[in-house]
Amino acid sequence: MPSSTTPEPGSQLSSSRATYRFRCIGCGGLSEAAAQDFRCTQCGNLLEIVDPAWASGRLNPATLKSTWWQRRLSNSWLDLSGVWRFRELLPAPQFEQCAVTLREGNTPLYDLPRCSRATGVAQLYAKHQGMNPTGSFKDTGMTVAATFARQGGYGWVACASTGNTSASMAAYAARAGMRSMVLVPEGKISWSKLSQALDYGALTCQLRTDFDGCLRLLQELVKRAPVYQLNSINPFRLEGQKTLAFELLEQLEWQPPDHIIVPGGNLGNSSAIGKALLEMRDSGLISRLPKLSVIQAEGANALVRTLREAEGKRLVSVRAETRATAIRIGNPASWEKAVKVLRATGGACEQVSEVEIAQAKAEIGAEGIGCEPASAVTLAGLKKLLQRGFVKIQESVVLVLTGNLLKDPDFTMEFHSGDLFPGPRYEQESGKLKPFRHPPVVLDADLNAVIKILDQAEKSTPAPSHA
Ligand code: F0G
Repeated sequence: MPSSTTPEPGSQLSSSRATYRFRCIGCGGLSEAAAQDFRCTQCGNLLEIVDPAWASGRLNPATLKSTWWQRRLSNSWLDLSGVWRFRELLPAPQFEQCAVTLREGNTPLYDLPRCSRATGVAQLYAKHQGMNPTGSFKDTGMTVAATFARQGGYGWVACASTGNTSASMAAYAARAGMRSMVLVPEGKISWSKLSQALDYGALTCQLRTDFDGCLRLLQELVKRAPVYQLNSINPFRLEGQKTLAFELLEQLEWQPPDHIIVPGGNLGNSSAIGKALLEMRDSGLISRLPKLSVIQAEGANALVRTLREAEGKRLVSVRAETRATAIRIGNPASWEKAVKVLRATGGACEQVSEVEIAQAKAEIGAEGIGCEPASAVTLAGLKKLLQRGFVKIQESVVLVLTGNLLKDPDFTMEFHSGDLFPGPRYEQESGKLKPFRHPPVVLDADLNAVIKILDQAEKSTPAPSHA
C-alpha cells in the first residue's frame, strides 16, 4: 500500500536539483512532504510549491530563454513536451526516466481578426489550450502530477471533475500504467468528456450530486483509501499549468501583454497562471506584470461575489447553474490563491450571462478556431471589461481558450438549431443570437435543390471578410 504522504522532494528523482518545498498559502509553513489532502497540517489551508532557486538570481534569464528556445529544435521526448521544456521552473527538473508525457503544451497563439474588429481591440490573441492531447488545458498540469503519482508508487489516482480533468487524468493514468477513478456529477457533464474517460479505461462513477459534492467526497476518500488525488488541489497540477504563461511569453518574444483573461471554475488555472507571472517577474524573465482577469458564468459566480460582498476575505459559495458545464462550480477550492494573484497582478473579476457566453462562442467559432462554452466566457468578459473601461482598446489582450469545440457538441448543436434557450426566460436576450446561427439544412439528394440553396445563401448571407 502506498505511503500516506507524497514523496519527499528528491526521494526518487534522478535530479540532484530537486529543491522544492510545500508552503501553506495561509500560515506560510514550509514542509518537505504533503498529506494526502494537500492541506496544511497546522491550519488546514492549501499548499503551494516553492523553490528558492526560481527567484534567487541563480537562474540567468537570458540563458533560460535560449535553453528553452533551443529545446524546440530537439527531438528528445522530454523536450518535445511543451511542459517539460520549461523544467527549470518546475519541481524536480531533469527526471528524464519517469516523466509521463503525451507531448502536451506547444499550443498555438492565434490572432482574432474578426473579434478584434468587433471589440475594437487591435492586439487580441487567443492562447488555445484546447489543442492539447485530450483537448483541454488540464494536460499541462496532469503530466507533472501524474509523474509524481507514479514516482510515489500509487496504483490508483482519482479526481472529481466537470469532465475535462477526468478525461485528462484517465489518459495520463493509462500512459503511466496506473488505475484511475473518476467522480463526476450525473447528467451534468458532456458526453464527449465522459466518453474519453471510458475509453482511457477509468473506473467512472456518476454521482447523484454536483461537482462540489463530488469534490467533497473525494477529499474524504483520499483519507481512507490509497488513492492519489489529481484535482487542482494537488499543487503539482498547478506547477504544470504554469507553463501556459511561460510558453505564451515566449510566443510574444517576452513582451508581456497588458491583459490575460481566463475562465474561472475551481480557480486552479488562474492561480497557476498568476503564480507563473509572479515567478517570471521575480526571476527577471519579464519586467512588467500583465493584469490577470478571471471571468465566471453569472450562474456560477462564487469569486465575483466573494470579491464584491466579502472583499475577498471569505468565500461566498453559490449553488452553481450554467450551460458552460466545465465551470459549473459553486464552491471553488482555490479561491484564496485566485484572490491573491488577482490582487498581485491588478486584474479584475467579471461575470457574463448565458446568452453572452453563447454569442461569444459563436464569434470565436467564426474565426475557425472553435472552443467550448467555458472558454468563450473570456471573450464575453472582455466586452464587459471594455465597457467598464478596465481594458482600453489600444491595449494588448490574450484570451485563454481552455477547451476544444469538440468537447461539448450538444451545446453547439442546440445553439445552431435554436434549442439552447427554450422557454420565455431568455426569449428577449437570445433574439440577438439569430445572425450567429447556422442550422443544418435537410434536402433531397437532388442537384437542383442543392444549387437553389447555394443561390439563396449567396444572396442572403454576406461573404465572411478576409482576415
Ligand atoms: N475551462 C474549462 C474547459 C474547464 O474544464 C475548466 C475546469 C475551467 C475552464 C476552469 O478552470 O477550475 O482551474 O478554474 N474544469 C475542471 C474539470 C473543474 O473538472 O474539468 P479552473
